[in-house]
Amino acid sequence: MSWLHRIIQRGKPVSNRFNLHEQDHEMWKDRARIAAEMIAALPDAGKAELKIADIGCGDQKLREEIRTLVPAVSYHGFDLLPQSPEVAKFDISRQPLGARFDVAVLLGVLEYVADVPGALRSLRQDCRYLIVSHSVSDFRKNPRRSKRKLGWKTLMSESDFTACLEEASFVIRECRPTSNQRTVIWACQ
Ligand SMILES: C[S@@+](CC[C@H](N)C(=O)[O-])C[C@H]1O[C@@H](n2cnc3c(N)ncnc32)[C@H](O)[C@@H]1O
Repeated sequence: MSWLHRIIQRGKPVSNRFNLHEQDHEMWKDRARIAAEMIAALPDAGKAELKIADIGCGDQKLREEIRTLVPAVSYHGFDLLPQSPEVAKFDISRQPLGARFDVAVLLGVLEYVADVPGALRSLRQDCRYLIVSHSVSDFRKNPRRSKRKLGWKTLMSESDFTACLEEASFVIRECRPTSNQRTVIWACQ
């Protein structure tokens, strides 16, 4: 059992790496809800079982959100810091997924990755659909300060992030902001 599993089992707050001490925040739940709605709106949802890779899944809040909206799902959690034994340890900056999924999901993860275009290109090989969020710089008064304070490696504008998706050959189906307008979620194929 890892140190992180032991901390969670004792009911103590998780590490503040990757801002995980804020993982119960309403914005994070809002983001997961929107992502689940986007998955439910995919053409294949409800027709066949969707195999989903939730990369940087944290406490797997997306899993519960999907369960209520999409009946047939096979959910697989991946994370650099797994919070439970069923989550596979995985580093998107260094590894390809290495298996084919219907949907790959990245919520609040690419802010911690230096080479976002590289990560997106790598994922393109392994998924049919991508649901991805980015906390865009557009609505922040001082983006540099936010980036430093939150320990992010990447903070892009909405248009720059859109360009990265398109350069990695993703076609955007839909994009929606969270209710605080600071994060955008894209559904791509
Ligand atoms: C801000 S949290 C978001 C967690 C979850 N997606 C959510 O929305 O509640 C970022 C998550 O990404 C994971 N993470 C950070 N860098 C990663 C990497 N290079 N590869 C995989 N996971 C990573 C962290 O461990 C953390 O669980």
